[in-house]
Amino acid sequence: MTIDQFNFAGKKAIVRVDFNVPLDENGNVTDKTRIMGALPTLKKVLADGGAVIMMSHMGKPKGKVNPKMSLSQIVKPVSEALGVAVKFAPDCANATAEAEALKPGEALLLENLRFYPEEEGKPVGVEKGTPEYDEAKKAMKKSQKEFAKKLASYADAYVMDAFGTAHRKHASTAVIDEFFDADHRMLGYLMEKEVQAVDNVLSNIKRPFVAIMGGSKVSSKIGIIENLLGKVDKLILCGGMTYTFAKAHDGEIGNSIVELDKLDVALGVEELAKKNGVELVLGSDCNATDGLDFSTMTVKPGSKIITCPANKVPAGFEGVDAGPDSQEDFRKAIKGAKTILWNGPAGVFECDAFTAGSRAIGEAIAEATAEGAFSLIGGGDSVACVNKFGLADKVSYISTGGGALLEAIEGKVLPGVAAIKGE
Ligand code: 3PG
Repeated sequence: MTIDQFNFAGKKAIVRVDFNVPLDENGNVTDKTRIMGALPTLKKVLADGGAVIMMSHMGKPKGKVNPKMSLSQIVKPVSEALGVAVKFAPDCANATAEAEALKPGEALLLENLRFYPEEEGKPVGVEKGTPEYDEAKKAMKKSQKEFAKKLASYADAYVMDAFGTAHRKHASTAVIDEFFDADHRMLGYLMEKEVQAVDNVLSNIKRPFVAIMGGSKVSSKIGIIENLLGKVDKLILCGGMTYTFAKAHDGEIGNSIVELDKLDVALGVEELAKKNGVELVLGSDCNATDGLDFSTMTVKPGSKIITCPANKVPAGFEGVDAGPDSQEDFRKAIKGAKTILWNGPAGVFECDAFTAGSRAIGEAIAEATAEGAFSLIGGGDSVACVNKFGLADKVSYISTGGGALLEAIEGKVLPGVAAIKGE
């Protein structure tokens, strides 16, 4: 079933959205990309004369109620975006009354699914590898099914539209489908669009293909990095992971972030790039400071900011952004690209003093896009960069997925997609 074929008139649809949006300390949404991304599906249900029940997770509350991750905080922005006063059910697993009361044209948001451990389906309070674990896992699987069945009981049809969470095998993404016939479960418009964008990149690679991977840890990206080394012409590695590479060559990195147990992984990446004939671009210099306050994202008064080679960061200093030479290297590598993928910033862009590296990348991508490249940006931080620098309408596609996008690019089947297909 496709969402276009389905007529929601007089029906209730439960839609898995990804409203895992960033909030400031007052609970205000700081980036609405994911809310806006969900609108076409939600509006279709309402326009048909159906009622919509939205369900999502926010953050990692680990199976416990945590007011800081309550979805009640986003009722107002979702209502504004949707143009309908959204009702709120404060307990996602006990919302029968609220769901039954819902009339055509109305919308209900359920509280954070992850306030229940059944959403993720991981046993609680038992260590992996202990004899009790297997029993607890079996019991959790059973209660996860019950949880999914309860969610399913609220609605006549199920729509999976949470691309950002489609790589998770959770109750709301890959168990709930069992309780709907194949003609009453479907992917939403956002899922269709995201899958299409990934397909655009993979099935029709126009060269040169340049990927830019940033972020603090090489270990969390190694799967996708190795995979990309089989596809791209150039790979730019930037951000905190740079210092693990510098350290692997006995560089001095001061207090910069490093994974000392992953030096061999970094050397392996360099070797694989050489073997595959991929040009690996690792920034040669960096901007470093001895006084970044991560809690306020400001430079402490009286502290210094210097530019130095990425492998000669003085003691007491921390590399926090790409330096001018690196920025130039990134620009040169991106210029002329015809397919571009960007995931992960080049520095601590949340601090206004350290946006230069990420900005250089964003601007170079915008220029290449204007010259005909297809550019795909994914991951909360890179999307936040593109928005912060006012470049959102100068790139080809902004994905709402981070991990999900990378797994899709790796060619993995996303559980949320497989579930709808009954696989
Ligand atoms: C994301 O932000 O990538 C998605 O919402 C998934 O969240 P998770 O990594 O906590 O599962």
